Amino acid sequence: MSREALIWDDAVSHLKSVGPEQPVLYFAPSVLQQTARDFQAGFPGMVSYAIKANDAGVVLENLIAAGITAFDVASPAEIHMVRAASPHVALHYNNPVRSPAEIAHAVAAGVVSYSVDSMRELEKLIAGVPASGVEVAVRLHLPIKGAVYDFGEKFGADHADSVLLLRAAEAAGFQCAMTFHPGTQCDDPMAWSEYIHACADVSSHAGVALGRLNVGGGFAANRGVAPDLAAIFTGISTAVNAAFGTAQPEIICEPGRALVTEAFVLATQVKGLRDCGGVFVNDGIYGSFGEAMNPVGVPERASTLTANGGAHSGATSPRVLYGPTCDSLDRLPGKYALPSDLNEGDYIIFKGMGAYSTATSTRFNGYGATQIITVQSLDIPTGLGDVA
Ligand SMILES: Cc1ncc(COP(=O)(O)O)c(C=O)c1O
Repeated sequence: MSREALIWDDAVSHLKSVGPEQPVLYFAPSVLQQTARDFQAGFPGMVSYAIKANDAGVVLENLIAAGITAFDVASPAEIHMVRAASPHVALHYNNPVRSPAEIAHAVAAGVVSYSVDSMRELEKLIAGVPASGVEVAVRLHLPIKGAVYDFGEKFGADHADSVLLLRAAEAAGFQCAMTFHPGTQCDDPMAWSEYIHACADVSSHAGVALGRLNVGGGFAANRGVAPDLAAIFTGISTAVNAAFGTAQPEIICEPGRALVTEAFVLATQVKGLRDCGGVFVNDGIYGSFGEAMNPVGVPERASTLTANGGAHSGATSPRVLYGPTCDSLDRLPGKYALPSDLNEGDYIIFKGMGAYSTATSTRFNGYGATQIITVQSLDIPTGLGDVA
C-alpha cells in the first residue's frame, strides 16, 4: 500500500515502508466493531461505553457504527467529545463527585443519568438537575476481591448509606437505579454476583424499586490469557434472576477496557542499548504504558521486528525495557525475553494496547506524541520474534 494511503494493510507493512521514529498505535476499526458487536450479543442488557478507556474520535465513531447508543462520561470534556461524535447518544455521568459548574454543563448537554455515593453530592444534584425523566444511580461499594485493581477506596456508599440515598433520590423525584464497579480487569463472575445480590437487598430495605441496575465496567481484557466473558455474562443473568425474581430492573453495563483493548497494537522503536542488556525504547510509563504504575501492569504479548522488516534469529534472554524519559521510574515492570541480535532502530510491537494508553499518556520530557494509524488487520505475521 502507498505511503499516502489512509488505511494500511497491517502494522508490519507500515513499519517496513515508513520506518517511524515515533511510537505508533495501529488501530483496526473492524476489530473494534466486532468486539462491540460480540459484547452486545452476549451481555444480558444495554452496553454503554466508558470513554475514559480511549476517547479517540475514531473509537467513538466506530462504536456508534457498531450499535453503541450510550456512553459513560466523567467530566465536561468527555461530554463534549461524545457530543462531537453524536448529538443523539445517551450520556451517563458516572463520576460521583461533581462541582456545581460541572453539573450545569451536564444539564445543558442533556445528561440522562448520574451516579451518586454521598448525600452531599445528591444535594448538589437536587439543586442543579431538573428531576423529570432523569435517573440517579446510587453507587454501592462492597469489600470484595476479584479485580486486579479495586477502586473501592475512592468511590461507593456502604449498605446503610445506599438505603438512605435511594430513599432521598426517590423523594426528590428522580428515576431510581443502582450501580457499582467491581474494579478494573476483573475476571471473577462472583464479584458481579455478590454486588447484584447486595443491590437487591439495599433496594428491598429502602422500599424503593429499581428501574435499572448498572453493573459497571471492569470486564477483563486479554492479559496473556483471553478472559471468559461468557461466564461473566451468564453469572450476571443468573444473579439478577435469583436476586430480583419477577421484579427485575433493566440491566446496563459500562465497559471501557474490554471493548477497546484488542483494537490497537503499539510499535515502539529501540533507541538505545546498554552493555548490561537494558533496552531503551521510545515509549514508556509516562506515555502508552501508564498502567505500569498501577496493578494492571504491562501487556505480556509482544513481538520484535528488525528495522528493515525482518525477523530476529538470536537467542533470547530476559532484559529490562526502559522508557525514553529521564526519570528512573520510567521502566516497564519485569523483564522481556529479547533476542541477542536486537539493534537500535528495530521495533518491539505490543498487542492489546487500546485501553488506558493514549487516555493516560503525558508529554513528560517532550515524549508521548503517539501517532494513530488505521489498518485493515492487526495480525502480526508468524516468524517474528514472540517475546511474551
Ligand atoms: C464509573 C466507571 N465506569 C466504567 C469504568 C470502565 O472500567 P473498565 O475500563 O475497567 O471497564 C470505570 C473505570 O474507571 C469507571 O470508573
